[in-house]
Amino acid sequence: MTERRGGGLRRPLGPSVAPMRVLVTGGAGFIGSHIVTALIDHGHEPVVLDALLPAAHPTPPTVDGEWIHADVRDREAVVAALRGVDAVCHQAAMVGLGKDFADAPAYVGCNDLGTAVLLAAMAERGVRQLVLAGSMVVYGEGRYDCPRHGRVRPGPRAEADLAAGRFDPRCPECGTSLRPGKVEEDAPVDPRNVYATTKLAQEHLAAAWARSVGGHAVSLRYHNVYGPGMPRDTPYAGVASFFRSALARGEAPTVFEDGGQRRDFVHVRDVAAANVAALEAAAQVVAPSTLTAYNTGSDDPHTVGEMAAALATAFGGPAPVVTGGYRLGDVRHITASSRRIREALGWRAAISFTEGMTAFARAPSARGSEAEESEAEGAEAAGTGLAGACGGRG
Ligand SMILES: NC(=O)c1ccc[n+]([C@@H]2O[C@H](COP(=O)([O-])OP(=O)(O)OC[C@H]3O[C@@H](n4cnc5c(N)ncnc54)[C@H](O)[C@@H]3O)[C@@H](O)[C@H]2O)c1
Ligand SMILES: [Zn+2]
Repeated sequence: MTERRGGGLRRPLGPSVAPMRVLVTGGAGFIGSHIVTALIDHGHEPVVLDALLPAAHPTPPTVDGEWIHADVRDREAVVAALRGVDAVCHQAAMVGLGKDFADAPAYVGCNDLGTAVLLAAMAERGVRQLVLAGSMVVYGEGRYDCPRHGRVRPGPRAEADLAAGRFDPRCPECGTSLRPGKVEEDAPVDPRNVYATTKLAQEHLAAAWARSVGGHAVSLRYHNVYGPGMPRDTPYAGVASFFRSALARGEAPTVFEDGGQRRDFVHVRDVAAANVAALEAAAQVVAPSTLTAYNTGSDDPHTVGEMAAALATAFGGPAPVVTGGYRLGDVRHITASSRRIREALGWRAAISFTEGMTAFARAPSARGSEAEESEAEGAEAAGTGLAGACGGRG
């Protein structure tokens, strides 16, 4: 069943960009809703298709503008939604890590079957432009250099090391400490869980579609996205919401490991702007019949401990407590070079870490009620693992 609502607000376009009608799948979600706002601000005409998954929407959201309540796996609904559409911005996905492996079919269904149905409908409708919500989870661990052996790829960390407080991966050849660096788009992929595997498969499907129909496909590999409306249960920066709600209860944020795990935190409004830049420029910049991946991060790495401290300072709450706790499977460092997107699309993150975290500490607008947050915190404290592999739910 589909339902259509509303109509969008228009603002003037710049001189060189024609207005586009853009289907935003997952446009009721955290990132998608910011993309819808940014598209309207740029004079485009977004139309949202979203299934409103209960896990993503504990309470019904407000969707700006025109929208269709449908699942991306519903071929008829998607074909109908593509009428008059110039480009697709595909955000719909199940995020997070699920409870256990039994959730694998649901992830593959939403994320990969959903992408295949969407791409087939685009092929049928002659829509040739796609911007996909990619993810840094395709890389697994970040980039590491050994002073003696150069670029190396350490495997997952051993429990004995973590228990002994040896959190940094070491050189597989000589055991020396490694220097973490910024991962680039041609780094080898190493998806380490079902969700990451589905995000990688989305890229492969989009590349196959582009080759087959002569389409332009871009994957924006978002790093740890944070900002107003962020969900808690993601393998990304959901930890910022946990820290913020601890502070709201007058408690210190508790940080896992030694707080030194590095991430690239990027503000959701910057990510929305990257999507608009990709939609406006891709047909000129990206070769047809290919998929081009762009890291989409702040290019300004920070540790989880620094994030907790920034939130505590801005909130005026107690300083973070570093617990030394850990979760097997968490990656230690994953930070990006966003040089390629800067050079190709002229996009760079505009909201600094301090500015973004300060605003988030003061007005997080996180989804879900305080009661649900307390419940979620309790569940995680009991070890049921809501927060995923950010390596820093602490
Ligand atoms: N949040 C991050 O830091 C981050 C980082 C990297 C990549 N991503 C990707 O960005 C995209 C958006 O993530 P988000 O953080 O906004 O998550 P979100 O859960 O807030 O938004 C996802 C939206 O997709 C919808 N959806 C899911 N399955 C659907 C289906 N089968 N049909 C129609 N709608 C469906 C949900 O109802 C939800 O509104 C996802 O593709 C995610 O993998 C997010
Ligand atoms: Zn070495």
